[in-house]
Amino acid sequence: MTSSTDGGADRAKPAPFWDVLGERPIGFTLVTAMGDEPVGFVGLSVAHVSAEPPLLSVALDARNKALERIERSGAFAINFLSAANEPVARAFLKKGASAAERFPPATWTTLVTGSPVLPDASGVFDCQVERVVDLGHAKLVVGRVVGSRASGQDSPLVFFRGALCPTPPTG
Ligand SMILES: Cc1cc2nc3c(=O)[nH]c(=O)nc-3n(C[C@H](O)[C@H](O)[C@H](O)COP(=O)(O)O)c2cc1C
Repeated sequence: MTSSTDGGADRAKPAPFWDVLGERPIGFTLVTAMGDEPVGFVGLSVAHVSAEPPLLSVALDARNKALERIERSGAFAINFLSAANEPVARAFLKKGASAAERFPPATWTTLVTGSPVLPDASGVFDCQVERVVDLGHAKLVVGRVVGSRASGQDSPLVFFRGALCPTPPTG
């Protein structure tokens, strides 16, 4: 057994935060916004808040360059990537990649707010900022869905233990 509730060594030395979080396979997610040029980041903190009204949240590190853009434009988009989007995912995982590398014009489109969305993503939500909760080191941004699309792609792009894991088509 690798987990323990009775203390001992596990209680004395907690496992590194990111190591534990990496054990959760999660759909690879990009959060984007529009300003003078498009901006975006890998945002695995995206979570649903409620279906009625349709609300989602994303936690942004206070140093995240997208934060100012999201607050200023009052909008952002959430992209759940498919295996077809793997080159885009790799461009976002590359430190310091330019907007041109991450947002090749033919690859992106928009829905309602003008925030960039991937037409062949597994799913996209276009959101207007509903509320921003300041936590000091981070801000929790809650968005109201104003546009959405599910593409029916069979192969989601999954992130597990710090690596991309394209999944085989189902069926
Ligand atoms: C797997 C993964 C998940 C991340 N999730 C978040 C997140 O939810 N919120 C956030 O502000 N930054 C998150 N980040 C960090 C940003 O995606 C980004 O790497 C950071 O803001 C630096 O951006 P830059 O590469 O454009 O300089 C995550 C990074 C990785 C690799």
